[in-house]
Amino acid sequence: ALRGSFVPKAEKANQRSHYGLQPLASYKVAILGAAGGIGQPLALLIKMSPLVSALKLYDIANVKGVAADLGHCNTPSQVQDFTGASELGNCLKGVNVVVIPAGVPRKPGMTRDDLFNINANIVKTLVEAVADNCPDAFIHIISNPVNSTVPIAAEVLKQKGVYDPKKLFGVTTLDVVRANTFVAQKKNLKLIDVDVPVVGGHAGITILPLLSKTKASVSFTDEEVEQLTVRIQNAGTEVVEAKAGAGSATLSMAYAAARFVESSLRALDGDGDVYECSFVQSDLTDLPFFASRIKLGRKGIEALIPSDLQGLSEYEEKALEALKPELKASIEKGIAFVQKQP
Ligand code: NAI
Repeated sequence: ALRGSFVPKAEKANQRSHYGLQPLASYKVAILGAAGGIGQPLALLIKMSPLVSALKLYDIANVKGVAADLGHCNTPSQVQDFTGASELGNCLKGVNVVVIPAGVPRKPGMTRDDLFNINANIVKTLVEAVADNCPDAFIHIISNPVNSTVPIAAEVLKQKGVYDPKKLFGVTTLDVVRANTFVAQKKNLKLIDVDVPVVGGHAGITILPLLSKTKASVSFTDEEVEQLTVRIQNAGTEVVEAKAGAGSATLSMAYAAARFVESSLRALDGDGDVYECSFVQSDLTDLPFFASRIKLGRKGIEALIPSDLQGLSEYEEKALEALKPELKASIEKGIAFVQKQP
């Protein structure tokens, strides 16, 4: 029930409401980094959601124009803009879902970890403000390296005494979106039928698509498994190289993040059948954070889904063991970044 694209669902709901002035629900969503490459198309997609009453856009610059522009779309949510640290608190008050795509993206030759020094500070500062102003909100972390920025956010929330591991999410939806697209293309399947769980983390070999668990009955040769796995792991780099210095994935990322927001809003709204993959605090492996399928509910994560990790293929077992040291180091780097600060 969760699968496929979120947009047809949103459109169906909008038809029901006939784009009335009132949204179907009244959730408030904030985007921090809203004027950026991801922030802008993400704001547009969330503006289409009938479940949103207020869309609050924050950035350190250039967000006024984005909000003025978006505010002319005749969908129900009200758009508000907030510029600079002095307006961040007001942006966050009363918000149900906070999405964070603030920070610098990769250029060719860079790994996601190369972004650590700049983005770690940005995420820390923003999550401190979330803790102070909307500690109950679902927090969606997009800023890379996700394998480290999610542990950073957790440590900040702990220090503030408001950490709820059920409400902190590293957004890995794009890995699932890519896996579904590539598998459907390769095997000539209908997109709507394809769903590949992607586990582990969100960088290089830590991204582990579980092709043996693909929904839609399909089998892969060893060669296909190897080729698809590597393509899914390097898909971000494919875009970085094609953009040749102009940044990383923004449009597909916005699409994926909007799907995760819509799933979160449906869960908040009482839909009992919402599943997504996300990088979260986890006890499914010996690592403290791990991406897996989760069931979402009104209070955040209702359950981690362990079944995907049972009965893995030999290839997947090996890849799972191989990714653990790198993922562990990235998690520890994030935790240490917060703990070593005065
Ligand atoms: P961008 O540079 O186009 O936009 C970033 C925005 O963040 C800018 O508008 C900038 O003003 C803003 N910003 C910088 N410091 C800020 C602060 N302290 N507070 C609020 N806003 C601030 O970058 P883009 O392409 O939108 O990427 C954003 C992040 O998303 C990068 O870290 C990138 O690596 C990550 N990303 C994550 C993916 C995922 O799958 N999780 C996929 C693609 C990108």
